[in-house]
Amino acid sequence: PKVTYELPDGASHALDVPSGQSVMDGSVRNNLPGIVAECGGSCSCATCHVFVEEGASCFDEPTDEERDLLEYAEGVRPNSRLSCQLILTEDCQGVRVTVPDTNG
Ligand code: FES
Repeated sequence: PKVTYELPDGASHALDVPSGQSVMDGSVRNNLPGIVAECGGSCSCATCHVFVEEGASCFDEPTDEERDLLEYAEGVRPNSRLSCQLILTEDCQGVRVTVPDTNG
């Protein structure tokens, strides 16, 4: 599915990210800045924080682990998620995320 990443510098990138990969994978594999993903996707660093602007319904609800970790992210909003926990499926359409400039 297509994922649009709005980057801290104002650029917008629409990428095709294969099902089964996360929103974080799509960013890292295409060398986009802003999603640092220090822990490599094991839900323990919070440097993959994004705001899900559209398409949130295709993702699972955050786990307790993710919720706890989000408390360490800066500038958390109601639509904050850890992008390594956002796994794409064929049902995902029109996913758009904003990448904050505070991911370290
Ligand atoms: Fe570390 Fe997502 S990559 S919590």
